[in-house]
Amino acid sequence: MINKRVFSETKNKLIRINILVVSGFLIIFSLFTYFYFQSITYNSIDTKLRDEYKYISIQINRSSYLNPIVLSDPRDLVYIYDNDRLIYYTKTNYFDNIVPDYTNEKANSCFTYKNDNYTFRELCIATKNIKIRIIRNIDSEQSLLKQLLFVIGIGIVFSIIITYFIALYLTKKALSPVENAWYTQVKFIQDASHELRTPITIVSSKLQSLLTVPNNTINDELETIADAMNETRRLKKMINDLLLLSKQDAITTLEIEKIDIVELVKEIYRDYEDISIIQNKKLKYENNLKDRFITSDRNKLRQLLLIFIDNAFKYTNVEDEIKITLNEKDNKVICTISDTGIGIKESDLNHIFDRFFRSDNVRNKDIDGSGIGLSIAKMISINLNCKIKTHSLENEGSKFEIIIPRQNS
Ligand SMILES: Nc1ncnc2c1ncn2[C@@H]1O[C@H](COP(=O)(O)OP(=O)(O)O)[C@@H](O)[C@H]1O
Ligand SMILES: [Mg+2]
Repeated sequence: MINKRVFSETKNKLIRINILVVSGFLIIFSLFTYFYFQSITYNSIDTKLRDEYKYISIQINRSSYLNPIVLSDPRDLVYIYDNDRLIYYTKTNYFDNIVPDYTNEKANSCFTYKNDNYTFRELCIATKNIKIRIIRNIDSEQSLLKQLLFVIGIGIVFSIIITYFIALYLTKKALSPVENAWYTQVKFIQDASHELRTPITIVSSKLQSLLTVPNNTINDELETIADAMNETRRLKKMINDLLLLSKQDAITTLEIEKIDIVELVKEIYRDYEDISIIQNKKLKYENNLKDRFITSDRNKLRQLLLIFIDNAFKYTNVEDEIKITLNEKDNKVICTISDTGIGIKESDLNHIFDRFFRSDNVRNKDIDGSGIGLSIAKMISINLNCKIKTHSLENEGSKFEIIIPRQNS
């Protein structure tokens, strides 16, 4: 599937970027560490070579340099030239043949060179006709630096491997809500198109049937036209609900104010009183609140309660009872909307808040609806910090408890 590919490509891209960034920083840091240690090591050797030079030049100034010279560090090799003629050198069993000849360009500075697998650091200072070369074998320091480089290299490889797994875990975690939102959206569009298709099919088949009887009058085809109009009304309602649902998704801003919930419920009760008489149903109202004030969003709360009351009227038969009760518990107001209507099957209870869900018996009885009402209710209740408890028995009735916090800030 194309979306799966997009997500896995994004994941790989993020992992690659993570690894690149981490390895880049690691390499820069490692190079810095390596060169820093190298410079510390060379500086300390250079200081010792310069000390050695001072020590030797004092001896040369004090006496004839033909006397054997005493070195402060026996590791050093010393070569003294008078007008390019070697007049003194340290006798050693190891490096005699390998120390290269004095090179003029590098006079008065410290430099490193390799000779026959040995590495040397040399200080060469020329004053008037006397040139002094102090040379130290720095193989041990070089091997320490090599070890440091090796450890750093291993550290980089391990860090990159660990970074890969951490990046894998983190990108998975970071992308999963996006992925879920994406699939929910896709499912929503599929469901919405499916639900919209039914009324459109009915309307088009009704219109088509009219085309087959061109000589009939409108009067003759009243039923077909009425059916088509009913479906267009259903379609309109569904589209309005869908729009509302998409707005509820996006708009989470609330207009919090002090509300007299008793007055709000009474207002709704009065609106439905006439309908209950027309439909021959009993509408009751009971208030057990001591404190009738809460802070919440009045319009959204009204919208929420209306969804349940609307359903209660829709899913009850004549003579059934619908009751709105207000109670309080633990600083919360509980508004219960109960009915003695058709009830909900136990297996359907977990799905009634899903978008487009409608019980089979409701669909079969051709009761108007889109299955969106309760998903809007769920959305509003999340926004308002309300909880909804559902109790229902098939053929006995339903009870919805809306638990509203007194303070919504
Ligand atoms: N009071 C109720 N009594 C019986 N069934 C109900 C009641 N309220 C909701 N339902 C069930 O839950 C489903 C979803 O409700 P809703 O989201 O409001 O959609 P609609 O009312 O448009 O079908 C309904 O189709 C119905 O099957
Ligand atoms: Mg409904």
